[in-house]
Order: sequence, then structure tokens, then C-alpha cells
Amino acid sequence: MFESLPSFPADPLLSLISAFAADARPGKIDLGVGVYKDPSGDTPVMQAVKLAERWLVDQQRTKTYLGITGSIDFQRNLTKQLVRGDLAASLASKLVTFQAIGGTGALWLGAQLLAKMSGKPRIWISDPAWANHPGIFLASGFTVERYDYLNAVSGGVDFQAITSAAGKMQRGDAFLLQASCHNPSGEDLSIAQIRDLFDILRNRGVIPLIDIAYAGLALGFDADLEIINIALEKFDEVLFAFSCSKNFSLYRERVGLFLAKASSDAGADKVRGALASIARCSYSMPPDHGAAIVSAIVASDELRRLWLSELEQIRQEIVMKRQRLSSASFGNSVLSRLSAQTGFFSLLPLSPADCGRLTSEYGIYLPDSGRINVLGISDANEATFMRSLGEVLNG
Ligand code: LMR
Repeated sequence: MFESLPSFPADPLLSLISAFAADARPGKIDLGVGVYKDPSGDTPVMQAVKLAERWLVDQQRTKTYLGITGSIDFQRNLTKQLVRGDLAASLASKLVTFQAIGGTGALWLGAQLLAKMSGKPRIWISDPAWANHPGIFLASGFTVERYDYLNAVSGGVDFQAITSAAGKMQRGDAFLLQASCHNPSGEDLSIAQIRDLFDILRNRGVIPLIDIAYAGLALGFDADLEIINIALEKFDEVLFAFSCSKNFSLYRERVGLFLAKASSDAGADKVRGALASIARCSYSMPPDHGAAIVSAIVASDELRRLWLSELEQIRQEIVMKRQRLSSASFGNSVLSRLSAQTGFFSLLPLSPADCGRLTSEYGIYLPDSGRINVLGISDANEATFMRSLGEVLNG
């Protein structure tokens, strides 16, 4: 009977992990899934994480369940980092927090919550977007609308296209915005543009869902969080999906935080009830280890300082890598915007056939959207990558 199941296409990013591992070519290059890679191509555990884990092994007295909302310490300690103190105090119980299973889990909670509010939920998602964004909302019963995000000529953010789409949105629609390090393009809105966009969305009664997967990797941790406080000030109701995967290098531990601001205490209670029900019927209660690490780090002055310096080091490496790749000396104009972009990803003007060729002929792995993880280009493979890219682009 299982044959009657519909076919589901493999996830374009995750299938690269196994395809890359199965490739026996020694010079293969992985530009696929978005993970930090140090100059030798490794994705190491942060020092602050190692220290927190040692501390946890000594301190932890039980493995009993955390409860439906997850670790209270994690939520409290992380929220303190994300939301300005005076704002948090004035919002009091209108601010809802819920531990999530990574950033994807937080988005899933947001999608399921919004779907419970409306018989016909509709969300606007950037085009291009992270490959999984539409899937999460389609699977939750949404109509997914797209807004053009990039200017076809300059390759930068097309703010006019975004605001003109926002001007067509209807009351009750949801709007998904990536806070920084836009996946897949690396092109971000400025703070002034975010403020203007939020004014339009607020006037139209749209609920923003802000996806914050790379805090600390664009302009710095504090600067990257400004969007949270602006949104909390501008909107009566707003949702956030925060990921600790990249900025704590805790990918496989699946740590995330879902935040919501409600306009009333009664609304906040309804949100809490809905989240508890969504969680109970899917994963029930979240795992502890990753959240306990994050909580221990941000609660300790010493570990927090160490973690922020490691995070800043990663950010600097990204900035330097981008400058290097976009410098004219490589003579490759498609890479010239890389230094103006942020985070792991850039989108190269490659057709799916070009991407396929890069993989089959040169052993360079990337999704067929042309997205690259710039950190996959190391000192050792840079020349090979440039030469292969040039050959594919020149036919
Ligand atoms: C990516 O876009 O590569 C990462 O966010 C990993 C993922 O889950 O897709």
C-alpha cells in the first residue's frame, strides 16, 4: 500500500550532504549546506560551548522532562540578550517565549500558530528565499505569495518591489522577513528600509514573522538584533523565529527560540495555549542539551565574553573572505557584489545546468539555485573554484 504514497522530491540542500560524502574525488569542494567552515575547512565546536558542556556534566543532576515550553532558564537568559530591558519590562506577560527545535522548529511553531488563527492563512515570502521557507508554510496549509526581493540589474535588494508588494497585502496576512544574512542572496535591508517597511506592514494590519538565523554574523551581535526591538516597538503583534545553530555553531543540537508579542494578556495566553498544543501533538517536549549550553553561556559573564569574541572572529573571517573573493584581481565580475553582502551565502548567476556541470565535471557541490556558501571556498581550493567557475560561465 505504501506504493500509493505520492513522491516527495529530496530536499535540495540536505541531499547535497550525502552526495558530497559519497563522492570519492579528492579535490571535491562543498559549497552546499550553510555551516561555518574555518580556514582548514572544519566546522569546530566553539571553546565557549566546550567549557559550558564541561560545566553541565558536573552540574546536571537530572534528565527529567523540561516541560512543554522547554527550559525556562534558556528562554529567560536568551531573551535577555535579544530584547532591550526596558521593552521587556513594559511588555511583561505580553511577551511569549517558547523553546523550539532549531530555527526551523521555531518557524514551524509560527506557521502552525498562524494557521490556527485563520481558515485561509496567507504568507508572503521573498523570492528568492531559503529553499525550505515555502515548504514549511505550504505544509501548514498556507497560500504562499512571493515578493520580489532582488533587483535583476544590480543584484541588490529591490526595496521598491518589496514595498509595492507590501502595499497589496491584506489585513491578517503574514509576512516573512529574514533579519540579516539573507538566505540565499546575502543581500539585507538597511535599518532605515526595515523601519519604512514595518510602517507599511503595520498600516495594512499584516503580522510579521521575522526569521533570525544569523544574529551576529552580519554587522555584529548587537547591530543584528536591532530589528527585534524596532519590531517590538512598531507592532502590536509580531512573531520571531530565532536560531542558535549558526551563531553558537550548535547545528546538530537543534536550539531555537520562538518569541511572540501579543497585544493583550489574553492574547498572549491564547498564544501560549496554542503553542503548547502544537508542541504536544508533534514532539511533545524539546531536548535539553543545546538549550542548556546556550543558557549557561549567556548567563556567565566570562563564557558570554568568550562566545562573543568567537562569534566576532567568525564574522570577521566572513567579511575578509568576501572582500578577497570580490577583489578585482580574480577578474570575475559575477563575484564583485560579494563584499557588499553578509553571511554565509551568495547567489551566483548560474543556471541549474551550470550548477550540475560544476558538480559532475569539477566536483563542486552547490544547490541548483546557484547559491554558494562562501566559507566553502578555502585558501586551498580557491584557485580551483575560480578556474572551474570561469570555465562554466564561459561555456
Ligand atoms: C542552509 O540553508 O543551508 C541551512 O540553513 C541548513 C538548512 O537547514 O537548510
